[in-house]
Amino acid sequence: MGTQARRYFLKSITGGIAGSMIIPELLMGELKNLDKVNHLNRKMDDSEDSWQLVKEQFVFAPGIRYFNNASLGSCPNHVRKATNAFRDTLDSFPSKYMWGGWKDEIENVRNSVASLLKVSAEEIALIHNTTEGMNLIARSMDLQPGDEVILADHEHTSGTIPWEVWQETKGIKIVRPELPILPESEDDLVACYEKAITSKTKVISMCHIVNTNGMILPVRAISKMAHEREILVAVDGAQSAGMFDIDLHDLGCDFYTASAHKWMFSPKGVGVFYARKDSQHHLKPLIVCRGHRDTSIRRLENYNTRNLPEVLGLGAAVEYYYNIGPQTIHNRTYELKQYFRGKINGNPKFTLKTPGADHLSGAIQVVELLDKNVRTVKNQLADNYGIDCRPMSTFNLNALRISLAIYITKADIDYLVNALEEIADS
Ligand SMILES: Cc1ncc(COP(=O)(O)O)c(C=O)c1O
Repeated sequence: MGTQARRYFLKSITGGIAGSMIIPELLMGELKNLDKVNHLNRKMDDSEDSWQLVKEQFVFAPGIRYFNNASLGSCPNHVRKATNAFRDTLDSFPSKYMWGGWKDEIENVRNSVASLLKVSAEEIALIHNTTEGMNLIARSMDLQPGDEVILADHEHTSGTIPWEVWQETKGIKIVRPELPILPESEDDLVACYEKAITSKTKVISMCHIVNTNGMILPVRAISKMAHEREILVAVDGAQSAGMFDIDLHDLGCDFYTASAHKWMFSPKGVGVFYARKDSQHHLKPLIVCRGHRDTSIRRLENYNTRNLPEVLGLGAAVEYYYNIGPQTIHNRTYELKQYFRGKINGNPKFTLKTPGADHLSGAIQVVELLDKNVRTVKNQLADNYGIDCRPMSTFNLNALRISLAIYITKADIDYLVNALEEIADS
């Protein structure tokens, strides 16, 4: 990439903040030398050089190759700088900014999240994480003893414990269908849910992407099937929001909640919550204080004093996302996945334990090494190669979970696969 293209690209991934509605005055001063044009619609060059520049926006420790985004994401410079500036602004006049001084800015964040997920701002609440969102849903439901809730076996504990604590103790039955780990089609998965439905089923609560092996679940088909039977569908989107393009109205679920600190690269402790307009009446605030009777979705996020710099940092993260381009990120997810699978497939010492089709998996892939214990391999990768990834042992897996976020380059994948080959041969 030439110097001019490099400068252009750098501006396109850092410069959007200069035209932003939410940037605080302190940061504006710092940014005055940047192009004042809002770059949100500019396209980036999709070469590896461009993606190397994206990677340079993140501050991983020297020598670390971070393949663990599914556990927790990292913030690019733009997001860290903006969030720090918001912290400074808050500390410059705490009462002003905490109690209404940022009202418009918060609404801007809501709007930008809504536009990313292709829904109305009146359907988005800004919360802390997926765990809170799943608690909010499970706690709210007015279920009666004997009613049933379906939670498949791959649900994360943040999607099971709230139902066990808030509903099972009231006499609600939790039904746990088993999902195939390598389904051949969406229909295989839909059939598991369909078989679990009875006349007592009131809610299906499901992951969009399971954290165990990265399999994408068919939310659209299950929502359609559920709604024909007047069953509500709640989706744990912790691993999907930001990984690829999502249209929540098209998916058709009633509720969707995600942690922005994973694939959206927001500051930690910020989450998004979607509730379809005509399903909002089911929901009650998890925490009650002044404002709990608000008839809008804002009643669900009224915590009194809260982490506003991080919430505004989410706005900066969505800007960053748009500066690269949602479609560009979507395409990159699948490009990295294909590149990784292409290097792994065909080697008899490796077995992929994530379904291959693009509608069945994205940027989370799990791989087993023949005759190697996954915990030992994880430690060897960390100690000898500086590679961080997560070992997965549930569901008889003995697999490494590899996350392929946008800061991963093809050179990083080459490095990872080379390390895996060396360990496999040792
Ligand atoms: C599928 C899934 N749901 C929920 C969570 C919990 O996320 P958080 O701790 O951000 O609430 C995770 C975290 O890894 C997850 O993978």
